[in-house]
Amino acid sequence: MTVTALPPFTAPRPADGPASVWPASTVERPHGRLEVGGVALDEIAEGHGTPVYVLDEDEVRARCRAYRDAFPEADVHYAAKAFLCRALAHWVDEEGLGLDVCSAGELELAVTTGFPAERILLHGNAKSPDDLRTALRLGVGRIVIDSPAEIARIAAAVGPGDEQKVMLRVTPGISAGGHAKIRTGSDDQKFGLSLRDGHAQHAVARVLGQPRLRLTGLHCHLGSQITDVKPYLVAVRRLVGLMARTRDAHGVVLPELDLGGGHGIPYRPGDPALDLPALARRVRAELVESCAHAGLPVPRLIVEPGRAITGPAGIAVYRVLAVKTTPERVFVAVDGGMSDNPRPALYGVRYAPRLIGRRSGAAPMRATVVGRHCEAGDVLAEDVPLPADVHPGDLLALPAAGAYHLSMASSYNLVGRPPVVAVSGGNSRLLVRRETLEDLRARDVGL
Ligand code: LLP
Repeated sequence: MTVTALPPFTAPRPADGPASVWPASTVERPHGRLEVGGVALDEIAEGHGTPVYVLDEDEVRARCRAYRDAFPEADVHYAAKAFLCRALAHWVDEEGLGLDVCSAGELELAVTTGFPAERILLHGNAKSPDDLRTALRLGVGRIVIDSPAEIARIAAAVGPGDEQKVMLRVTPGISAGGHAKIRTGSDDQKFGLSLRDGHAQHAVARVLGQPRLRLTGLHCHLGSQITDVKPYLVAVRRLVGLMARTRDAHGVVLPELDLGGGHGIPYRPGDPALDLPALARRVRAELVESCAHAGLPVPRLIVEPGRAITGPAGIAVYRVLAVKTTPERVFVAVDGGMSDNPRPALYGVRYAPRLIGRRSGAAPMRATVVGRHCEAGDVLAEDVPLPADVHPGDLLALPAAGAYHLSMASSYNLVGRPPVVAVSGGNSRLLVRRETLEDLRARDVGL
C-alpha cells in the first residue's frame, strides 16, 4: 500500500515560509482517503454524520508545548473563546497552560471540569453581574478591568477582608489584525483604557486606591490574526512606559505584563503565519531592553493565544448536497455553512477545502462552495479548485477549522450545531454531540 504523507506541519511556520494547513498527523491513503490522528475522515463522516468537526488532540497538545517551549519564562493562557469543551480544558491543563475566559459560561465550564480557577483570567468589555459574581465565587486568578466603571463595581463585590487580583486592559494605540472587525489595539473602540487620552493612567491611580483590589499588571490585546511581530514590540515599549510612570507616580512596581493573543495562522497553503519563536525572542529582548531603560525589573510575561492552539488542529467535514452550474460559476452546496462557520461572511476569510473519500481523475475546475442557509452570502469558500466531477454525496474537508467556528456557531434555520470528534493514535471519540431538534425544541417553552 502506498502511503503519501502530506507536507508535515509543525507549529507555527515563519511568515514567509510555505505553511501546510493540515495537522502534522495528516496522511493521504490510496483512493483519496485522508487520515488525521490515524483515523480516516470519511469513516468519521459515516459514523457521526455530516457536517462534523474533527479535532486532532495531538496537534492541540503539540501546539500548547510549542508555546511553553517558546516562552519558558511566561505564563501561556489559552483563549477559550476560540473553542472550549471539557476535554479541551483537560488537555490545556495537562499541558500546563492557563485559560483566558470572557464569560461566566466559559469560566464555569472550565472550573467545574477541574481547571484550577487561579490559573484563569476573566476578560470582557461589559462583564455582567453574573460574570463578576461567578468569578469571585469560583476564585478566578485575575479579573482584567476594561473600563473605569468596573473599578468600583468589582471593589464593592469583593468581600470584607478579601482581596481580588486585577489587571488593567490598556489600548496602546496600535492598529493590527487580519480584519477591521478584529482590531482591538487602537484608541477609538469599545475595549480598554486608552493610553493616549490618559484614561489608563487615571485608572491605575483609582485601582491602587482600592484596598480590596490588587493590581498585578497591565494587559493589552492588539487584535487577531496578526502575522507581524512588530506591533507586539511597540506594545511592549508603550506598556513599559506606563509601568514606569506608575512607579514614578505611586512608587508601585507592577509585576506582570499581559500581551494578549492574536497570533495569525495560515488558512490556505502559502498564507503568512506569525513566527512563534521569533515573536518570543524579540518580545523578550524588547522587554529586557525597555525595562533596563526605564530602570524597572522585568515583569512576568503573559500571552493568550487562542486560534494558534486550536485553529490548525480542527477540520470541518461536509457532504455535498447539490452542484449547480451558471454561466459564470459552479456552485457546490454542502450540508453546513454560515451556521457552523460564519467567518467568510463576517471577515471575508478564504479557505481551501478539498475532496476526500475518493480519488478523482477529473481535471480541476474553479468552484464556489456554498452552505445550505437561506442567504446568498452563505459562502464557505470562493473560487477554489475542486475536481470537475464533484457531485452530490461527495465529502469535502475544510482545514484550519478548529478556532472560531463552533464557538461562534448558531442554529440558524433550526439546523443543529455539528458534533466534535477527537482523534488521536488511531482512535476517535465524540467530545460534543450534534445539537438535535429535541435540544432546540426544549428551549421553546411558550405556546
Ligand atoms: N485575548 C483576548 C483578550 C482576546 O480578546 C482574544 C480574542 C484573544 C486573547 C485570542 O486571540 P487569538 O489568539 O485567538 O487571535 N472571531 C474572530 C476572532 C476574534 C478574536 C477575539 N479575541 C475570528 O474568527 O477571526
